Amino acid sequence: MTDYRHALIGCGRVAANHVDGFRRVPGWVLAAACDREPHVAEFARAHAIPRVTRDAGELFADPSVTSVSIAVDHRQHGPLVERALLAGKHVLVEKPLCLDPKEARDLVALADERSLVLSAVAQHRYDPLVLAVRDWVARGLLGDLVQASVALQARRTPEYYTDSYWRGTQDGEGGSALINQGYHCLDAVRWICGDLTATAALRRTRRLAGVIETEDTLGALLSASGVPVTLNVTVASSVEWRTRIEIVGVRGSVVFDLDHPGRLSHWEGPAELVRLAERENARGLAEEPPGASYYGTSHRRQIADFCRGVAGGGAMLSSAADAVGTLETIVSLYELSAG
Ligand SMILES: NC(=O)c1ccc[n+]([C@@H]2O[C@H](COP(=O)([O-])OP(=O)(O)OC[C@H]3O[C@@H](n4cnc5c(N)ncnc54)[C@H](O)[C@@H]3O)[C@@H](O)[C@H]2O)c1
Repeated sequence: MTDYRHALIGCGRVAANHVDGFRRVPGWVLAAACDREPHVAEFARAHAIPRVTRDAGELFADPSVTSVSIAVDHRQHGPLVERALLAGKHVLVEKPLCLDPKEARDLVALADERSLVLSAVAQHRYDPLVLAVRDWVARGLLGDLVQASVALQARRTPEYYTDSYWRGTQDGEGGSALINQGYHCLDAVRWICGDLTATAALRRTRRLAGVIETEDTLGALLSASGVPVTLNVTVASSVEWRTRIEIVGVRGSVVFDLDHPGRLSHWEGPAELVRLAERENARGLAEEPPGASYYGTSHRRQIADFCRGVAGGGAMLSSAADAVGTLETIVSLYELSAG
C-alpha cells in the first residue's frame, strides 16, 4: 500500500537526484512535479510523474500531498519552506536552508511546533566514507585533532551564470563559491570536527569579474574548539571539480575527497585505524549517480532517512538545526571577508 505522496518543487539541475531518491523508498510515490517554467511538462513526462503544476500553492493546498522537496534558487528557500510548513507538509529543502540565520532558526522552530520533519540537503554527510571518518575521529583513533584543511577547486563558465536567472547574483544566490559549491566541504568538515568559529576570511572575484556579483574564490581560517581549520574554495579553477579534506590528529591522519566517496587517498595511524581505512577502500562505492557525478549518490541516503523520519522513525541523522549552524558559519565568513 502507498501511504506517502511527495511533490517536487523546482525541476532544474538537481531535481533528478530527488526523483531517484524518492523512487527507491517503498510506500512513497512522486505524486507531482512543479516548476514555474513550462519545461516542467517535459520533466514530468521524462520521469513518469503523473501530475504537473506551475503553481506551488496548488500543492500546498492539496491535503493528499504529504511532503515536498524544494529545489529552487536560494532566495526563495525560506519563503517556500515557511508556506509548506504552514500548510502541514514535511519539507526536504536543498542547501542552504535559507539565506538568513534568524529566518533559519524560525523555520526549525516552526517545524518543531507543528511536529513536521524539516531537512536541508547535505548529502555528503551520508557518504559512507564521511560517516566512517566521523566515527574514527569521535572514537579518538586519530588522537586529539591538531588541524584540518578542506578545499574545493571547480570550474564554472560565464554561461553557467549568464544562462541562469539566479546564479551569480547577490539576491538570488547570496554568494557563490562558498554558499553554493563550497557548502558541502564546509558542512562535511563541521560534521566531522564539530562546530566552527570563523576567524578570518578573504574573498575575491577574478576570472568571473564582470560576470557575477558574488565571489568566485574564498579562503578562510576557522576554529573547531581551538583546532585550526583552513578552507579554500574557488569556482575559477581550470579543474572541473576536485575536493580534498585532510584531518590531522596527534596519533593519525586521513586524506580523502567528497567526489570519490569510496576511497581514502591517505591514511596513517594506529593499527585499528589502518584496518578500518583499508576495509573502507576495499569496499569502495560503485553506484551510478543519477545527476552530475560530483553531486554523488547520497541524496538517496538522506531521502531514505527523511522518509523514515516522516513515517515516525525518530530524529533524522542530520537535522535541520545542523544546517542552521552551517549557514551561520557561512554568513560569518561573508561578514569577515566583506570590503
Ligand atoms: N545538493 C547538491 O549537490 C546540489 C546540486 C545542485 C544544486 N543544488 C541546490 O539545489 C537548488 C536548485 O539548484 P538547481 O541547480 O537545480 O537550480 P536550477 O536553476 O537548475 O533549477 C531551479 C528551478 O526552480 C524553478 N523555480 C524557481 N522558482 C520557482 C517557484 N517559485 N515555483 C516552482 N519552480 C520554481 C526554476 O524555474 C528552475 O527550473 C539550489 O539550492 C542549489 O544550491 C544542490
